[in-house]
Amino acid sequence: MSKREIKKYPQDDEILRKKCVEVKRIDRFLKLLIEDMIEAMNYGDGVGLAASQVGISKRVIVCKINEAPEIFINPRITKKTGSQIGLEGCLSVPGIFGEVERAESITVKAQGPSGKFIKLNASSFLARVFQHEIDHLDGILFIDKAKNLKKVQPEELQDVI
Ligand code: CO
Repeated sequence: MSKREIKKYPQDDEILRKKCVEVKRIDRFLKLLIEDMIEAMNYGDGVGLAASQVGISKRVIVCKINEAPEIFINPRITKKTGSQIGLEGCLSVPGIFGEVERAESITVKAQGPSGKFIKLNASSFLARVFQHEIDHLDGILFIDKAKNLKKVQPEELQDVI
């Protein structure tokens, strides 16, 4: 088990739909939250997680980049180009996948775990992960945007974000 349980749709819809608030202070409580989020993401075998998915309405996400967990505080997308359509699933909506249209390439500005401001470009699947996680911070789930939602069997599971 992970320390924090991942909130699930539809039973935890209220917390999943809350708009998360900006992080003002990076203190030890936030650091503990981030540790727990990484643990929950790894335990669920996901590639990304937003704080709202463990019931905390703060603008923090974790994403795996080249298998390593990275932390983004107050992330925002400052540029989007192109589009891609791909299958998406979510740790908060288990067993369901759907096709979601996302921007192909994005620029993200955020703060790292020490508070330092960072800017990065992402494309294809990583751009999808960021867009999915930042949607979570605004109370948006992928099922709001997906077409052709379908149940999948564990053996056909794809990456869940
Ligand atoms: Co998700």
